[in-house]
Amino acid sequence: MKPLNKTVTEIKESIFSTMTKMANEYKAINLSQGFPDFDGPKWAIDLMKCALDQGETGKNQYAPSMGLLDLREAISENYRKFYSLDYSAQTEILVTNGATEALFSTSLALLNPGDEVIVLEPFYDSYKAAIELAGGVVVPVTLKALNFKFDRAELEAAVTAKTKLLFLNNPHNPSGKMFDREELMFVAELASAHDFYVISDEVYEHLIFTKPHIPFATLPGMRERTITISSTGKTFGFTGWKIGWASSTPEIIKAIHSVHQFNVFCVHHPTQVAMAHALRRLESYRDELKVEYSQKRDLLLTGLRQRGFKVIEPDGAYFILAQLEDGENDVEKCKELIVSAKVATIPVSAFYLKSNEGQKLIRFCFAKKNETLLSALKHLE
Ligand SMILES: Cc1ncc(COP(=O)(O)O)c(C=O)c1O
Repeated sequence: MKPLNKTVTEIKESIFSTMTKMANEYKAINLSQGFPDFDGPKWAIDLMKCALDQGETGKNQYAPSMGLLDLREAISENYRKFYSLDYSAQTEILVTNGATEALFSTSLALLNPGDEVIVLEPFYDSYKAAIELAGGVVVPVTLKALNFKFDRAELEAAVTAKTKLLFLNNPHNPSGKMFDREELMFVAELASAHDFYVISDEVYEHLIFTKPHIPFATLPGMRERTITISSTGKTFGFTGWKIGWASSTPEIIKAIHSVHQFNVFCVHHPTQVAMAHALRRLESYRDELKVEYSQKRDLLLTGLRQRGFKVIEPDGAYFILAQLEDGENDVEKCKELIVSAKVATIPVSAFYLKSNEGQKLIRFCFAKKNETLLSALKHLE
C-alpha cells in the first residue's frame, strides 16, 4: 500500500492524552489537562437549553458559514468595549470550531510550502501540527525560564526572508506569563521591519490576575498584520462547546474563511446563539471569574509552596509551573507523582522543540474544584 501523508504519520500522541490515560490507569487526580472539572455558570446552560428550543427559527440547522451575525456582533462589541479595537462584525470576524480550528485554518490560509514560522517555545502543541500540515517550517525561539522573556538578538536572528508568520500566545500556556508592552513592541517592530504576520492566540485573555491584558492588534501598525484568535471555552468554562474566532482584516478573514467553508463549513448553531448572549454578560462575569480563579490560584500556590515545591506565580491563564530539583527530570517526576502520590501533572519538556529547559519544570492546572485541589495537595504531602 502507498504510504499515508508523511507529516501526518509523524504526529505523535499529545502529551495531554498520554498523561490522562496514565492518570486514569492509576486513578490519579488529574491536574494535567487544561480544563475545568466543574461546569461554567448555570445561566449559560439555561441559555443553551433555550437556544435548542428555537428550532422553528432554523437554529438547529446549518448556521451561516462566517458565523451567526449576532455572535459576531457580540464579539465585535466586546473588542470595542474592553480594548477600543474596532472589528467589523460583517467582514472582520470569522466564527470557528474553537481556537484550534482558527489556528489551523489561519495557518492553511497564510502559508505556502517552505514558509518559515517563528514559534516562541514553550508552546501549545497544536501550533506545530497546524504549521507543518500547511507546509510551513517551524522555527522555535526559546522564552527563557524562569521569567519567560525572549532574547532579543536571538529572536531577531531567527527572522529570515522566508519568515511569513510568528505565533504569539498571551496570556501564555504553560507559563502563565503575560507579555509586557515593551516585549510586544519589540515583536511589533520586527513584524513591520520584516513584513511578517502575527497570530496572537489570546484564549486566556479574561483569565488574568495581576495586570491588564494587551491585545497584540492594539500596538501601532499591528492591526493589519495580526490575526487575533480567541474562544469562549476557557472564559465560560465550557471547553466542550468549542466556539472560537479569528479577527483580522477583511482580506485575511476572507482567506481563512475559504479554508473554513470547505473544512467545517459552519459551527454548531445553538451554541452560537447561547454564546452571543453570554458574551454580552461578560463585563460583569469577568469580575466573578477573576475572584473564583484567583482563589484557586492562591490555594494551589500556597499548598505547593508548603509542600516544598518551587513555584512560578502566573499572571494569567490557569496553570502553575513548579521547578524541579537538580538531577530531577520532568517526565520521570510526572510518572513518579502519578504512581506514588496519585496526582497527574504535565512534563513541560513536551512544549519545547529546541531547548531542554522544560525538563526542569512540571505544570499543574488549577481549573479544578477546590475539593479536587485540596485532595491533590493532601496526596502531595
Ligand atoms: C494556548 C491555547 N490555545 C488554544 C487552545 C484551544 O482552544 P479551544 O478549546 O478554543 O480550541 C488552548 C487549549 O488548551 C490553549 O491552551
